[in-house]
Amino acid sequence: MRKILVTSALPYANGPIHLGHLVEYIQTDIWVRFQKLRGNECIYVCADDAHGTPIMLKAKQEGVTPEQLIEHIGREHRADFADFLIGFDNYYSTHSEENRLYANLIYERLRDAGHISRRTIVQAYDPEAGMFLPDRFIKGECPRCGAADQYGDSCEACGATYAPTELKNAVSAISGARPVERETEHLFFRLGDFTPMLKEWVNGGHLQPEIRNKLKEWFEAGLQDWDISRDAPYWGFEIPDAPGKYFYVWLDAPVGYMASFRNYCDRTGASFEEFWSREAETASELYHFIGKDIAYFHTLFWPAMLEGAGFRKPTAVWCHGFLTINGQKMSKSRGTFIRARSYLEHLDAEYLRYYFAAKLGSGVEDIDLNLQDFMARVNSDLVGKLVNIASRCAGFIGKRFGGRLAEALPDADLYASFVRSGEEIAALYERREYGHAMREIMALADVANQYIDERKPWVAIRESGREREVQGICTQGLNLFRVLVTYLKPVLPRLAERSERFLACGELEWEAIREPLLAHRVEPFKPLLTRVEESAIEALLEESAATSAAPPAPDKEPAAGTISIDDFARLDLRIARIVEAAPVEGADRLLRLTLDIGEGEMRNVFAGIKSAYTPSQLEGRLTVVVANLAPRKMRFGVSEGMVLAAGSGGKGLFLLSPDEGAEPGMRVK
Ligand code: 2FM
Ligand code: ZN
Repeated sequence: MRKILVTSALPYANGPIHLGHLVEYIQTDIWVRFQKLRGNECIYVCADDAHGTPIMLKAKQEGVTPEQLIEHIGREHRADFADFLIGFDNYYSTHSEENRLYANLIYERLRDAGHISRRTIVQAYDPEAGMFLPDRFIKGECPRCGAADQYGDSCEACGATYAPTELKNAVSAISGARPVERETEHLFFRLGDFTPMLKEWVNGGHLQPEIRNKLKEWFEAGLQDWDISRDAPYWGFEIPDAPGKYFYVWLDAPVGYMASFRNYCDRTGASFEEFWSREAETASELYHFIGKDIAYFHTLFWPAMLEGAGFRKPTAVWCHGFLTINGQKMSKSRGTFIRARSYLEHLDAEYLRYYFAAKLGSGVEDIDLNLQDFMARVNSDLVGKLVNIASRCAGFIGKRFGGRLAEALPDADLYASFVRSGEEIAALYERREYGHAMREIMALADVANQYIDERKPWVAIRESGREREVQGICTQGLNLFRVLVTYLKPVLPRLAERSERFLACGELEWEAIREPLLAHRVEPFKPLLTRVEESAIEALLEESAATSAAPPAPDKEPAAGTISIDDFARLDLRIARIVEAAPVEGADRLLRLTLDIGEGEMRNVFAGIKSAYTPSQLEGRLTVVVANLAPRKMRFGVSEGMVLAAGSGGKGLFLLSPDEGAEPGMRVK
């Protein structure tokens, strides 16, 4: 029995799972289920990738803590995966103690072996936000073609790549401020130290040929030191011997594979060493399924980190291509940016699992989800061919023979040929040639249907003296169906489960099909899968267009750092009367204000203005409140809005107040 550990890339905990993600999880899950079906020990772990600047900023934008954000998104991710039948053995988070432990351990071992260096670099700094800016958070004009509003690393208009310092009229995408250059000390992983080992590993049969070729280019360019630190404020793990510096998210992300597995071991008693010690490299197998865009991290940094820290390296890293929908990149405006959850509201997860399987091979080419082809393929293969075999035979067996299968197969050779095909199909699954495997399976389904068509049990049943023959034909048909469902079980686990119930045969297993089911009673037949309806696809596209539609484009994009008139209109600024003001116990700066915001509505708002006003100076006074600010939970209660006050440095605080005559509820325009 092989011992196999498998991972899929860790999705970022800042957005929903969409169909593009699912290519990978479905591809991996099929492979894992196949290994389990073959009787191997195969463990599948994954986690949310929960650190980094985008998550920190998104949490801020939503007025929650990063912990709250990743908790919430983590829950959604798990539900989406479960409903797509992705059978993780463990799903975890990189924001975990296990991950901190292994990230620190790997870092310390690399440092002690001399693979970490420190040097001062110059980086863009946002003086207003008080933070260094990742390239993606600097915008400006392309130094080559002059296109406006380009990111700090590359131009979407002309494809140029450059350093953020080269952008013209650069601004911070966070505050709109002009970035300044600032020196800061960073820590680097000396990837070049591992060049000989990596060259050998890359050519050692661990990678697809396309990826190996790409790596050759990288080797020729020379392996550069990798910047593994980021300055505070940063959402991640603080580096043990560098206060105020944090591990760059890409350092602790792959370590998340280990951490999730460690968590699995602690839950189940499995052995961590059996899969991660240096000796494990020959005793167990480790596979990473990833998208081709993150090959660099997994085929250079990661093996080097593992080697340098005394752990095993992966057996293989397998890359897949991207998903296009109807031949084009997923697009919000075309309604083809389809979230996993939206899909599930209209269509069965197994349709997509089958369709992706039918399209997937071992290469890195992109795969296309053509929705018309999707409907035609699923209806023709799964409903028209596969399920049809069972439904045509089950009726007779149920009604005419009390559910009982015949004592012998009329065509044992045909059955044996189906079983023999299993070796080729298994080899295809093993090599991730799922598309080819699906074609083989459907060719067998054609043979099974042809067998039934030629013998016409629906005619024979009407002729006296031919009952036994009909029972034989249908027994043959159901046995061929059983073999096919076993072959499809990695792709269609739920259909397999329903079939197991119908056949009353226990769990379908690859080895068990050698023996046909004979003189056995099956359960009454219930439909196993329904057709894909065009209306469901239309509804899905409509919904996706509605949920992801970008707001109508303004005449001219406002310059970064400014807001459009529409943005301004979204603010509900209102006149409010302070009905009551009271100190808050345990809070030096806060007052609790009860505001009348008009139309009989009262709001509870905490305001940091205690240093400037006593409660009695405020009661009865008019002010301005942001009335549509999402409620914020604070230590002392929920704040349901914000009053506006001016203030700078030590010069005092000044509550904004309209002239007398204004009334609570009036809008500020
Ligand atoms: O590219 C991404 O979506 C990353 N979150 C993948 C991380 S994979 C691994 F290294 F953790
Ligand atoms: Zn350009």
